[in-house]
Amino acid sequence: MSTRPRSPLRADIAVLPGDGIGPEVMAAAIAVLERVSSADLQLTFHEAAMGGHAIDEFGDPLPESTLKTCEQVDAILLGAVGGPKWSDPSAPLRPEQGLLALRQKFDLFANLRPVKAYPSLSAQAPLRSDLLTGVDILFVRELTGGIYFGERHEQETGDSAYDTMFYREAEVLRAAHIAFQAARGRRNLLTSIDKANVLAVSRLWRRSVEKLHDEFRDVQLEHLLVDAAAMHLLTRPADFDVILAGNLFGDILSDEASVLAGSLGMLPSASLSADGYGMYEPVHGSAPDIAGRGIANPTGMILSAAMLLRHSLGCETEAAAIENAVDGVLEAGARTADIALGASPISTQEFTEAVIEQLA
Ligand code: IPM
Ligand code: MG
Repeated sequence: MSTRPRSPLRADIAVLPGDGIGPEVMAAAIAVLERVSSADLQLTFHEAAMGGHAIDEFGDPLPESTLKTCEQVDAILLGAVGGPKWSDPSAPLRPEQGLLALRQKFDLFANLRPVKAYPSLSAQAPLRSDLLTGVDILFVRELTGGIYFGERHEQETGDSAYDTMFYREAEVLRAAHIAFQAARGRRNLLTSIDKANVLAVSRLWRRSVEKLHDEFRDVQLEHLLVDAAAMHLLTRPADFDVILAGNLFGDILSDEASVLAGSLGMLPSASLSADGYGMYEPVHGSAPDIAGRGIANPTGMILSAAMLLRHSLGCETEAAAIENAVDGVLEAGARTADIALGASPISTQEFTEAVIEQLA
């Protein structure tokens, strides 16, 4: 992860708002980034098309021009992609293909998804609030391998299909390395997820993580089968520190864990390559049911922008300031519709303005 390279720092950021609520939450993140910009931190935004609307405009979910923009910038900020218009599973082009292609092209193998329970939201959470005390988890999801990218066979009209969950040791090791390192800076506990009682690929996963553990003896390592992990996440969430998982298991468990934060709209993510290049996006999707109404929760997107400042630009001070401002407005009672439950909700823009005001 990079440290702040020079001062003043000038950075170019590709902005891919995407579909549905993507553009709405993106506007919030940009406004917050502009607020923390200064003579010492100059950000230039380069908007480009990706996802469903890119299929409509360019016939390609990841147009060549967008790819070119992404190649020339320091980091990518992404909203969300997809929607009912493009959701026919047999369509040859799907918005998600653009997302997966970006992850693969830039080798963004390390997907960081922090999940914490906000004390100010715990009364409204679907889980008992005593279970949520102290919940602070970092998911490290392997993002460029596994069943998402394994060999597959499908026929549009055939009666069989297959996908392959395939990992090489080196792919497991590099993701595990990020996870062990992260645990070192936190509570020194790593939980590795697999299905080693059934899957050969999971036995390779477990062996590889064990092997790397020799270099990280100060970190306590536990292995948990994915089905048990799905239960333990809800019965003892505060026990977890860093959770390492492959692409598919990490996808599923991180959505489950969003319940701990109060809403899927709360969660940010960073997807990083070995050299610190990264793409930053909220964990939530394009939420077509509420798109265009100005009520989406921008927290996940705003916190993703904070992660961009931290991991791609080395701007820890500004990143922490944004995170504190979000904490502050939540404590003060600001609630978008998804986390309102009884309270009167405010709009995406009002929430964003509150964050900006808190930053001042
Ligand atoms: C995520 C999403 C994506 C994934 C989809 C949109 C392809 O669910 O980022 O978690 O499965 O990785
Ligand atoms: Mg997902």
